Amino acid sequence: MPSILKERIKAMLLPGQIAGELSPSERHLIDEEHARLEQFLEDLRDTCENFGKQGNCFGCNRTQVATCQGRLNSFFYDFLDLVDAHFETEEKIMLGSLKASNEDDFFKKHQAEHARLMAEVKDLMRESSIFSQQGNPSEAIYRLENKLVELFGEHANAFDTPFLRATLRR
Ligand SMILES: [Fe+2]
Ligand SMILES: [Fe+2]
Repeated sequence: MPSILKERIKAMLLPGQIAGELSPSERHLIDEEHARLEQFLEDLRDTCENFGKQGNCFGCNRTQVATCQGRLNSFFYDFLDLVDAHFETEEKIMLGSLKASNEDDFFKKHQAEHARLMAEVKDLMRESSIFSQQGNPSEAIYRLENKLVELFGEHANAFDTPFLRATLRR
């Protein structure tokens, strides 16, 4: 990880003003949503037979290519819905049980990162959809999956893990 990014992430670890506690059901909900996000990415990898080989669709027939294009399209919609719902869950919990105020620095940064991440996911999907329409959904899936794993991993390390840890220490 580039050191400038490490510094940026370190500067964001400020969940000190979280006063409340997560209930077991809230903790379960967040864990479950994180697991669903991971499962979605796993399913996306499984969509393409050539995924592990970093291949392309040139060896696949038209029906296979069309199937992958269709699956990728439904992935876009389902994944966006899931991400949107998950961000809302976390923000509601932070404002509710964790009693973060709207002015809490960590909450504001976490919320702003959700908005930025959402915009970035939409951009990636547009880019990926172009590759797919050009007849190479394999390339589209490969690039999209790699980038999503990176972005969501960074977000989890910088925001989700610190706020979950902060509530476990109490
Ligand atoms: Fe999360
Ligand atoms: Fe988050």
